Amino acid sequence: MYFKCAVVLTILIHGAWSATEQLKFPETFMFGAASAAYQIEGAWNVSDKSLSIWDKLLHDRPELVVDHTNGDVACDSYHLWRRDIEMLQELGLNMYRFSISWPRLLPTGFSNYVSEDGKNYYNNLIDGLLEKGIQPLVTIYHFDLPQSLQDLGGWANPLITDWFADYANVVFSLYGDRVKYWVTINEPMGLCDGGYGQFSAPYFNDTYVGQNLCNKNTMIAHAKAYRIYDELYRDKYHGKLSLSTLFFWFKPVEPEDQEVTDLTIDLWAGRYTHPIFSKEGGWPRKLEQLLNENAKKQGYHYRLPPFTPEEIELVRGTYDYYALNHYTTRLVRRAKPREKAGSWFFDGSPELNVIFDKDPRWRTTGIDWFAFYSEGLREQLHWLNTTYDIKEIVITENGIPTLDDGLVDILRLDYYKEYLEQILLAINDGINVTGYAAWTLMDNFEWMSGYFSKFGLYAVDFTHPNRTRTPKESARYYSQVTRTRMVHPVVDETELNYVK
Ligand code: BGC
Repeated sequence: MYFKCAVVLTILIHGAWSATEQLKFPETFMFGAASAAYQIEGAWNVSDKSLSIWDKLLHDRPELVVDHTNGDVACDSYHLWRRDIEMLQELGLNMYRFSISWPRLLPTGFSNYVSEDGKNYYNNLIDGLLEKGIQPLVTIYHFDLPQSLQDLGGWANPLITDWFADYANVVFSLYGDRVKYWVTINEPMGLCDGGYGQFSAPYFNDTYVGQNLCNKNTMIAHAKAYRIYDELYRDKYHGKLSLSTLFFWFKPVEPEDQEVTDLTIDLWAGRYTHPIFSKEGGWPRKLEQLLNENAKKQGYHYRLPPFTPEEIELVRGTYDYYALNHYTTRLVRRAKPREKAGSWFFDGSPELNVIFDKDPRWRTTGIDWFAFYSEGLREQLHWLNTTYDIKEIVITENGIPTLDDGLVDILRLDYYKEYLEQILLAINDGINVTGYAAWTLMDNFEWMSGYFSKFGLYAVDFTHPNRTRTPKESARYYSQVTRTRMVHPVVDETELNYVK
C-alpha cells in the first residue's frame, strides 16, 4: 500500500517516464548493499576480541557523539547475521559489502594469533551469503584499528604498512577462496583527515603532520597488500582488489573557478587516486607543490611526505577496479578578498582558500553536509573514465542521510531512483559500472552522528533486544529495481508485498 502510494507520488513528481524507461541494467550487474563492522556488529567485548580505537574513544569520551551512544551493541549483527542475509534476499541482492573487524580477527593486532571465534564469524557469514547466491565484497579495513596498534603510533607509524599487509595476508588466506572482490582500505580521507582532524577516532588534532603521514602510509599499506595478493593468491583465486575513495563531485561556480575545482578534486580524491590509478604515479603534482609551498611558509619541509621512486612504483597500478563512494556534490569557488575559506572538509579548504557551496535548487535533508544532485554522479563517472585507465567501476557506497523519517522514506526512494538512473545512463554511455552497493542495508551507528542520522533501507528498533529490522519504502522500491533491472519498474500487484 505504502509502496503503491510512493510509486504514484514519484510519477506525479517526475512526470512522464524519462528516457531511461526502456533501459535495463546488464544481467551480470551486482546489486548490493554495504555496511561496516563497527557500525553494525556490536559484540564489542565478546570472546577474545580486543578494543578498537572506536571502542576506546567512545568509552572514554561519549560526549563526542551527538546522542552519546556508541557501537557496543549497534545492530547486533554479530548475533543477527542470519537475519541480515534474509534481508539481502528480500531485497533481491546478489552482492553484500561488509567489513572485517581487525581486532576481532587478530586480537593482538598482529598475525601471531588468530581468533577462532572471529575466524568462524566471517566464515559463517561468507558461506551463508554464498548459499543464497549473494557474493561477498569484503572490506579489509573500515576505520576500526586495534587500540594496541594505535598505542604504537597507528596510521602515523610507517611500520603499520607491514602490520596491515600481514593482517591482509591472513584475511586472504582464510577467505580468498570464496571472496572475489576486495576493498583493502575504506576511505583514507575518513581515517586520516578525520582521525587527525578531530572528526573521528583516534581524534587527534594534527592536520599538518599526523594526517599526512597517515595519508602516505595508507597508500603503501594498500600497495603491500595488493602485491601480496598478486604473489600468493591471484593465480589460484582470481579476485579483484581496490581501495575505496570517498569522492564528492565538485563543479566550478563560474568557468574561471575550474582551476581551483581541479585542485579541490585532487585534494579530496586525487591524493588517494593519483598514486594508484595514474600513469605517472605519486601525489598529484600541482597539489603537492601548492601544499608544500603552504608548508614551507610555516617552517615545515613539506605537507605530503614525498614518495621515493621505489615507493611510486610499488603503489602505481595496484588496482583491478575503481571503488567509488559517492554521496553528494559541491560547487567550488575561490574565497573573495577578506572572506574566510570554508572549513575542511564539507565547506571548503583553507589550504586552497576555497569555499564549497550547494546550489539552492538541490534538495536537502535535515543533515547539513548533504545535498541531492544526481547528475553529479554521472559527470563524475565520466571524469573517472576519461582521467584514468579504469576498466571497471563498482560504486561501493551511495546513499542519503535523513533525520528519522520513519518507514515512508520517499526522499530516499527518490534518491535511489534518480542516482540509479544516472548510473544506468552512464552505462549506456559506455562506462563499465559493474556493481552498486547502497549505503546502507539498515540504520546503524553513524559515527559521530550516533543513531541520529539514518541511512538505512531497513529501520532498526534500537530499543528492542532483537534489534528488529523493518523494511522502509526505499527497500520496497530497491527490491523492484533488482527484480526488473529497471529504474522505473512496472509495478505488478503481486510484487508489492514481496518484502514482508
Ligand atoms: C563511510 C561510512 C559512513 C558513510 C556515511 C562513508 O564515508 O564509509 O562508514 O557511514 O560515509 O557517512
